[in-house]
Amino acid sequence: MAGKATHPSQLTFTDLDLSRWKEYEEVETDSLWIIPSRASGNGHQLDYHGNYVPQIATQLLTRFTRTDDVVLDLFLGSGTTAIEAANLGRRCIGVDLKPDLIAAVSEKIASTLPSDRTALFSGDSASEECRTQAEEILTRWGRDRAQFLLLHPPYHDIIRFSDSPEDLSNAPDTDAFLAMFRRVAENGHALLEPGRYAAVIIGDKYAKGELIPLGFQCMQVMQDLGFRLKSIIVKNISGNEKGKGRDSNLWRYRALKGGFYLFKHEYIILCQKPLR
Ligand SMILES: C[S@@+](CC[C@H](N)C(=O)[O-])C[C@H]1O[C@@H](n2cnc3c(N)ncnc32)[C@H](O)[C@@H]1O
Repeated sequence: MAGKATHPSQLTFTDLDLSRWKEYEEVETDSLWIIPSRASGNGHQLDYHGNYVPQIATQLLTRFTRTDDVVLDLFLGSGTTAIEAANLGRRCIGVDLKPDLIAAVSEKIASTLPSDRTALFSGDSASEECRTQAEEILTRWGRDRAQFLLLHPPYHDIIRFSDSPEDLSNAPDTDAFLAMFRRVAENGHALLEPGRYAAVIIGDKYAKGELIPLGFQCMQVMQDLGFRLKSIIVKNISGNEKGKGRDSNLWRYRALKGGFYLFKHEYIILCQKPLR
């Protein structure tokens, strides 16, 4: 047929309307995210060492999910994803090894936000039982799979989250950490709807004077599992950093002496599960 091709203004994975794209100034499209400070309010608190800033969830869920979509977070922690999913009218399945954390997040959500669309449970996200339990929730909610996957694992042993051997922060070495991450990511891949997006939030570490590029290594795991790499976003971590004043001067001294640079960034690795 002759004439101008028409372009759909609605994509399947977002509520953003492309015909209004100029209005979405707050939506990031660049790969460098400088977030000056953590957003608070709307249910968010800085109450867990190692939680991510809520603005990451706001950005990702706005661009890559639609109202009522199910967001799956297999390292829930203090529930940043669940809280922001509720704020944005998305549903959330969240899993963490620590039962006390799940209880605390459930209580927090129940006291401030509608909780009937949030299902949180404790367990090992690498396990078959975790996958089965998540599938049961999806069935109850009338969905075959989740519409977004968020993975914010421990940055290996930088922060130890528990004494449990299933905890990725207790992996004896980098290879074991990556093997454990792979099993969780495999569950995530199986539970994610084809065509939909996944994000891994991860930083690197130093060990024995050498940089261990956990971000790129986890990215490789995602690609090995069949995810398509869409973006590597670099985000500043100055809003989160501890140790101001004398401590940070000491780190500066150590960096100068050891011939390395202090981490001021982490990664958000954005992937898509192919349609087939
Ligand atoms: C970096 S924190 C996640 C923080 C979270 N995104 C937030 O904003 O609060 C990593 C979490 O992974 C959990 N974890 C570690 N190994 C796990 C496993 N095998 N299964 C489920 N959760 C695990 C830890 O208990 C910890 O709460």
